[in-house]
Amino acid sequence: MNGNPVIRARGLKKCFGSLTAVDEIDFEVYRGECFGVLGPNGAGKTSIMRMLYNFSPRTSGTLEVFGLDPARNGVRLRQVIGVVQQTNNLDLELTVRENLEVYGSYYGINGRKLKERVDELLDFMELTQKADARIKQLSGGMKRRLTILRALVHEPRLVILDEPTTGLDPQARHQIWAVLRRLTGQGVTVVFTTHYMDEAERVCSRLVIMDRGKILHTGAPDALIASHLPRFVLEVDRCSLSDTWKGTNLEFDYYGDRVFFKADEESAFSAVSYLDNSRKGILRPANLEDLFLKLTGKRLIDE
Ligand SMILES: Nc1ncnc2c1ncn2[C@@H]1O[C@H](COP(=O)(O)OP(=O)(O)O)[C@@H](O)[C@H]1O
Ligand SMILES: [Mg+2]
Repeated sequence: MNGNPVIRARGLKKCFGSLTAVDEIDFEVYRGECFGVLGPNGAGKTSIMRMLYNFSPRTSGTLEVFGLDPARNGVRLRQVIGVVQQTNNLDLELTVRENLEVYGSYYGINGRKLKERVDELLDFMELTQKADARIKQLSGGMKRRLTILRALVHEPRLVILDEPTTGLDPQARHQIWAVLRRLTGQGVTVVFTTHYMDEAERVCSRLVIMDRGKILHTGAPDALIASHLPRFVLEVDRCSLSDTWKGTNLEFDYYGDRVFFKADEESAFSAVSYLDNSRKGILRPANLEDLFLKLTGKRLIDE
């Protein structure tokens, strides 16, 4: 990776009393990356985001954002960072357009420049038709998109988004992914958290997989999968399996009532047979969820 990192964390730690939420983690994020922080609820994702934009102080370790310590240069950094918090905090009394304008004026953008910027943003997120709507008239996906737009008013060079797509329908998630791609295409650095594995695989150039405050792995999604897992997974309901696979050396994990067989060649799954052939398993490429299961013995989202 070329150039100085936009973010550099070393031994970064956050404690709440006796609870260690972030446990001495190291990572870097480079310009133009879409960097994912992936982990289940309670992994420490929000705590990391908040330290990055100096919403909460770190307990120990070092942290640099654009070469500056957020704890000492919070005001300066806020000029170049856009933040989307985990829960929307739009002003319900204002219209869509007014929500953006108020934010712009916080950053000293006024008059014609502000109007042009707001128009451009509304167009960017396909919200122009809703410009004069009140917040309560918006769908969940629109509120989230507006919250993201608001974080972009001052043309930040780093955008931090905490679970930008949680709870949204697939179409709204696709729209947000497209925005993240457009931002990185413009050279903006994006850091976001998610507990959706498919999202991380699709959108991130690199990511960290976290659990209980620790980073378990760092890398590009494809490379992480390829270096830790066989190519294919056969996912089967345990109750539909016959015992034929027992005694073979087929690799497997299980979770709840599902068994996940893993192999580099599809032919290896011929050892698996079913009590009822109408309930065969699903054969698919290995993914990040399989990696998380292998590392922690649990799934990212409890089913
Ligand atoms: N303000 C707080 N006070 C006490 N404990 C907290 C606070 N914020 C987070 N925690 C705890 O820190 C851990 C990590 O939380 P968080 O960073 O919110 O994780 P995530 O965003 O991955 O769900 C959790 O155990 C959570 O309960
Ligand atoms: Mg969180």
